[in-house]
Amino acid sequence: MLAFLGGTGPEGRGLALRLALAGEETIIGSRDAARAAAAADELRELAPGASISGAANADAAAGANVVFLAFPYEGQRPTLEQIPDALAGKVVVDVIAPMQFQRGRGASAIEVEAGSAAQEAQELLPDSLVVSAFQNISAEELQEPDKEMEGDVVVCSDHADAKSVVMDLVRKIPKLRPVDGGALSNSKYVEQITPMLVNINRIYRIHAGIKIVGV
Ligand SMILES: NC(=O)c1ccc[n+]([C@@H]2O[C@H](COP(=O)([O-])OP(=O)(O)OC[C@H]3O[C@@H](n4cnc5c(N)ncnc54)[C@H](OP(=O)(O)O)[C@@H]3O)[C@@H](O)[C@H]2O)c1
Repeated sequence: MLAFLGGTGPEGRGLALRLALAGEETIIGSRDAARAAAAADELRELAPGASISGAANADAAAGANVVFLAFPYEGQRPTLEQIPDALAGKVVVDVIAPMQFQRGRGASAIEVEAGSAAQEAQELLPDSLVVSAFQNISAEELQEPDKEMEGDVVVCSDHADAKSVVMDLVRKIPKLRPVDGGALSNSKYVEQITPMLVNINRIYRIHAGIKIVGV
């Protein structure tokens, strides 16, 4: 069972939709159970027959064995501090790219004291297996189930088995390729590519992604 905390937003919705279409059981999480249920209803209309339910974040986390963090960076510490027990022993997939927007300057990365959002999550959740992935995958593309995805997903973690679990989930989304990005400390570089992609998107009016050549 996969849970998407903050899954009412475009990135969590898109990942849940694609993985539900691939046959995974999914739960949309939200700070508000009714909002989660409404998002799940909308997604089931796009994917009739797929397993997509909704619940409050804590219940979604408790019911899953792989939990995606799909809310903005500012929500990470307060959310994780509320539910460490529900996440203990589980694979926690951090898709967060800490970013800010300034008028006239576009998107830029927020510096994180721990090194990256994913490292901060691992510090907050010492009993969880944190994996960093999907930060460079466009929510807009994910939410169009008939559109073929394109690009690489760099996956970083200090837990080899958890990393394999997430790399296998990437393979379930047609045309996406997982690339082993090594240790969780490398997540910083992956997270900081995202504001650059956002700025490129604005210039070219596209949904850019990345490909690692030579692998
Ligand atoms: N959008 C993209 O293309 C994209 C691509 C790659 C990675 N990402 C990353 O994926 C994450 C989600 O992106 P998004 O665009 O879906 O974000 P979003 O729409 O801004 O937020 C997603 C959901 O998070 C919850 N949320 C908002 N503020 C929160 C807070 N302070 N604390 C806890 N929950 C909060 C809200 O759900 P409820 O109100 O229902 O709780 C919201 O619907 C971000 O960290 C982003 O960096 C996004």
